[in-house]
Amino acid sequence: MEHRRLEIKYTEYASKSEMPTADAALLEKAEEMTRNSYAPYSEFHVGAAIRMESGEVYGGANQENAAFPSGLCAERTALYYASAQHPDGVIESIAIAAEHEGVFTKDIVTPCGACRQALAQYEVKSSKPIKVILGGTSRIVVFDSVADLLPFVFDSI
Ligand code: THU
Repeated sequence: MEHRRLEIKYTEYASKSEMPTADAALLEKAEEMTRNSYAPYSEFHVGAAIRMESGEVYGGANQENAAFPSGLCAERTALYYASAQHPDGVIESIAIAAEHEGVFTKDIVTPCGACRQALAQYEVKSSKPIKVILGGTSRIVVFDSVADLLPFVFDSI
């Protein structure tokens, strides 16, 4: 028997001005997308923006529904939109931001388990790491790969 340990790595920035310009721009787009959220129940407005390897940018925002499970997170809205527009495209990065009661959240909002699984699927599909950029007003956290957010991803069929 052996006990093993996994290490994950991420980068933290204090503000957008410290980041590579393209990543800061993608995060700004995610912030803009919070305005397109439909969240009458939680009033928690999440925006996501995806940059493809080819340079196109696709946005998404959470969409809620009176039948709660029928709603969808911002990340999957953006992912499925991007993939539907560009089925052979390679996703390079995704940025996520959230606004509640008129202000962007202080800390980062991390993708839920289902969104991590969906993100991981596209990472596996293209054999290229997807950068995940999580924006809060007190810090910005960047993961270079979805694998860091979802170790032991289900990928067995
Ligand atoms: N939500 C997202 O869109 N993305 C996340 O990463 C976390 C949660 C949405 C789902 C729901 O509409 C609202 O935020 C509150 O959970």
